[in-house]
Amino acid sequence: MSAADPSSNQPAPSSDQASSGQIDHVLIEERLFPPSEAFTQRAVISTQQQYESLYAAAKDDPDTFWRREALEHLHWFEPFDQVCQWEAPDVKWFVGGKTNASYNCLDAHVAAGNGDRVAIHWEGEPGDTRSLTYRELTDEVGKCAAALKSLGIGQGDVVSLYMPMTPELPIAMLACARIGAVHSVIFAGFSADAIADRNNDAEAKLMITADGLYRRGKVLKLKETVDEALAKSPSVKHCLVLRRIGDDQETPMTAERDVWWHDCVDTQPTALEATPLDSESPLFILYTSGSTGKPKGILHTTAGYNLWAKKTFQWVFDHRDDDVYWCTADCGWITGHTYFVYGPLSAGATCLMYEGAPNQPAEDRFWELVEKYRVTILYTAPTAIRTFIKWGDEHVDKHDLSSLRLLGSVGEGINPEAWMWYHEKIGGGRCPIVDTWWQTETGGIMMSPLPGITATKPGSCTRPLPGVVPIIFDESKRPVTGDQGGMLCMAQPWPGMLRGIWGDPERFREQYWETVPGYYLAGDNARRDSDGYFWIMGRIDDVINVSGHRLSTIEVESALVNHAAVCEAAVVGRPDAVKGQAISAFVTIRDREPDEALREELRLHVRKMIGALAQPDEIRFTNTLPKTRSGKIMRRLLRDIAEGKESAGDTSTLEDYSILAKLREQDN
Ligand code: WTA
Repeated sequence: MSAADPSSNQPAPSSDQASSGQIDHVLIEERLFPPSEAFTQRAVISTQQQYESLYAAAKDDPDTFWRREALEHLHWFEPFDQVCQWEAPDVKWFVGGKTNASYNCLDAHVAAGNGDRVAIHWEGEPGDTRSLTYRELTDEVGKCAAALKSLGIGQGDVVSLYMPMTPELPIAMLACARIGAVHSVIFAGFSADAIADRNNDAEAKLMITADGLYRRGKVLKLKETVDEALAKSPSVKHCLVLRRIGDDQETPMTAERDVWWHDCVDTQPTALEATPLDSESPLFILYTSGSTGKPKGILHTTAGYNLWAKKTFQWVFDHRDDDVYWCTADCGWITGHTYFVYGPLSAGATCLMYEGAPNQPAEDRFWELVEKYRVTILYTAPTAIRTFIKWGDEHVDKHDLSSLRLLGSVGEGINPEAWMWYHEKIGGGRCPIVDTWWQTETGGIMMSPLPGITATKPGSCTRPLPGVVPIIFDESKRPVTGDQGGMLCMAQPWPGMLRGIWGDPERFREQYWETVPGYYLAGDNARRDSDGYFWIMGRIDDVINVSGHRLSTIEVESALVNHAAVCEAAVVGRPDAVKGQAISAFVTIRDREPDEALREELRLHVRKMIGALAQPDEIRFTNTLPKTRSGKIMRRLLRDIAEGKESAGDTSTLEDYSILAKLREQDN
């Protein structure tokens, strides 16, 4: 039977019983898509039994399992003497060993005779191209590492990166890893204030950026934003600047502080060797939004993260040497860290990297690239897929996508319509889809279909990978029975788990480990159906997911309240057909007219405080916000209003019923 033909889908053998009345608003999806026999025959994991025995081994005897994997998959300068030291929430993996993530991603392949294999095929937005073999990449990284040293950077120093998607971005990341410096990549869409906050929180010593980048045919001058940030970042001593848009004349350089990449990196006489580093040596910090206004610096360390990135890449993407793999995520997010840099490069993959927008010069850019590079594995986000659907099939139809054999999805739940379109239109019905659930904190994929064996259901991330032991708790902290929804937690440590929040051990404990003592709290609600498949049901906190980007509603509220005209602000997410969630803001103001000019000013203010990705999609002015008698903003009501729903819920504690009517009036 071919999985290509949707009419041939069998209903799930034991159908989902979620309709039994326990859960509202759940997706009932009974279509099943098993992998084709041709795919299964060549797959890395090709039988259910193979998965079950890996899963059991990792769960029942993690020490033996991970010792074997670590010895096989990482290079050890010095062997470790203990696999895992665990006392919640503190964990250490591969204690006493010395390795280096940059070595594992680069030198290891050269040493194995694969130095001439292409590591990165890069395509700039204007159409310029570059390919780097593993040997060339190793040299470039070694030179960049030497340059970092010459700028006074050593082990444990934090380096902030604010860069375009050019090869120098992974080069700089790996150069930090090579000498034990800790990179903190800041997505190049964040504002100067957001950069400064991150620099100050991490006490970054060096900043690496570029004169600019190309985006939708325009030039964005990164260095100007960085200069503004550096004026408020006293810890940063130097700024290394890549020439990307060729703006030597116009790019202001501050003497003593700023230095060009081509003067400092390209001129290094020798490439630096990788430093043997402790397994638990910090590898990177990545800031992400939590349920408070202040983004948290999630810390990952060397050996455990590296192993998790490599193993999960191999399992989920079924990687083979002749694959051309394309992860479309920017390195500014965790997906870019784990599945553009550390996972695929550790596995010796050939990766495509694209600098720009998917509609530049036209809406078929992605498909043109898939055809040109004969991409075999594509990993992208549901929001991108929904955008492509909106743009129309004609852009896809122009291109030969027959090279594709596997498709991945990440960042948010994928709705069944988008799943079906991805499956049929992009995958030609023959490519399995891996819907991967994970988080910045988990380091790598936790739950996902394995493409050679899992019969997928559109919208489910299916089952946990070996080493992942999920458990769902109800509100009274008891494990749920049946397929009730509840808080998703993890019962066992895994090598890629976060090691902390930079500089804030208290918040780390409180946020992830105290709700259900001793268990990692993911922050998502989930349920498990009668086939053992997991369905993610959204966040339990005030985190929203806008175009696959994680934002805290409180972060946006703080930015709004920072404006002189705003007294109070409440921000909620509302469903959006393309972005997943859109940002709705409700504000009370003083001394100003509630007009369009003020709306625009507030949007720009949020853009300045955080970045364009946090700009509210709609702003409603109100005299007061609906609050409970104890003064808490009734977000549920605001969400209903934002969605245009009549509020069905209990409003008995609402302070002022007339507010609701006024807020609704603005719908028109
Ligand atoms: C959501 C991105 C449903 C989830 C890798 C999680 C998903 C948050 C999925 C983490 C998925 C990510 N299905 N929801 N396949 N993948 N999420 O840290 O709410 O940017 O907690 O990591 O995105 O977002 P983050």
